[in-house]
Amino acid sequence: MSEAVNNQILLSSRPVGVPTRDNFTFIKSSIPEVNDNQLLIRTLYLSVDPYMRGRMNDQKSYIPPFQLDQVITGGVIGEVIETKSSEFQVGDVVLGLLGWQNYSVVDAGEVQKIDTNIAPITTALGVLGMPGMTAYFGLLDIGQPQAGETVVVSGAAGAVGMLVGQIAKIKGARVVGIAGSEEKVQYVTEELGFDAAINYKTTPNMQLALEKACPNGVDVYFDNVGGPISDAVLSLINQGARIPLCGQISLYNSEKQDIGPRIQVQLLKKTATMKGFLVTQYTDRYHEGMTQMAQWIKEGKIKYSENIVEGLENVPEAFLGLFTGENTGKQLVKVSDC
Ligand SMILES: NC(=O)c1ccc[n+]([C@@H]2O[C@H](COP(=O)([O-])OP(=O)(O)OC[C@H]3O[C@@H](n4cnc5c(N)ncnc54)[C@H](OP(=O)(O)O)[C@@H]3O)[C@@H](O)[C@H]2O)c1
Repeated sequence: MSEAVNNQILLSSRPVGVPTRDNFTFIKSSIPEVNDNQLLIRTLYLSVDPYMRGRMNDQKSYIPPFQLDQVITGGVIGEVIETKSSEFQVGDVVLGLLGWQNYSVVDAGEVQKIDTNIAPITTALGVLGMPGMTAYFGLLDIGQPQAGETVVVSGAAGAVGMLVGQIAKIKGARVVGIAGSEEKVQYVTEELGFDAAINYKTTPNMQLALEKACPNGVDVYFDNVGGPISDAVLSLINQGARIPLCGQISLYNSEKQDIGPRIQVQLLKKTATMKGFLVTQYTDRYHEGMTQMAQWIKEGKIKYSENIVEGLENVPEAFLGLFTGENTGKQLVKVSDC
């Protein structure tokens, strides 16, 4: 095995504005020895996520920046192909924060086994993984949608957004999605049961379109995107509205500080709560979230979609596609066969 080539993707320069393929370099390395209590893992699927854009900047945040000329890391599903740990067997499928590469050697404690009987393994990076938990806890813990209320979600056809809308429907809310294409609008309304959806790329006046789609105002706004879309939604919030601040993808590539309306007066007058959250705040409750999501999938109440690109060589494009909306649902890259 040690003669096998490990293709790896490094961050070779920090993006300024929108990242390009030139920010990434491919190299070939040999695979390190597997020492006691370590595993050799072959990458099956890897996840590309919007938060990775923030890690490409050299700035202090809730997670350290990627280092230049180092392998980029993220959520990976892999198969154990060599083990020096009594807790893992060859053939186990595992989840971990591993590299954008074909093979990883890690300490056994760095990965967890995936139960392959519950659902297809890819769901460990999507509906039953980090994005699923983000939707579940962000909406239910902070948004607290009630029957009859109006919930608006931006990034509505993405990994998190499509689940937020469906969970809100389960709770009896009226759900309005905002997404970037006619296909996505159609998908969330016709396939996922959202009550209405707006294509922000073709709608000339978001404020008017939202007023029409939300005749009773907005009780919960699950914000995935920020910027002018969120400004328009926030102008329509009701008394006591809740606003889970999940992401601000429209700003991740901004080169200058974003300046928008001052919303404090609106929050004050409406006695509204806007709360930023990180899914990692809920790790001790993941079991609850995963059990419930798995149950809803089984009952047909939650559908999910995955956009799977093939080949390690296409990881940069898959990542860049998040910022142009190429994906419907969770964006994954299949690196090798199970
Ligand atoms: N707080 C947390 O712990 C946490 C955890 C996971 C994710 N997040 C955040 O949640 C958001 C969604 O993440 P995800 O993994 O589910 O990604 P995703 O929605 O599957 O993919 C990103 C989507 O964002 C939309 N987008 C890109 N640029 C945009 C822009 N300028 N304006 C409006 N929409 C834009 C695109 O869809 P369109 O075609 O609709 O434009 C794209 O498909 C991100 O902001 C992410 O950072 C936060």
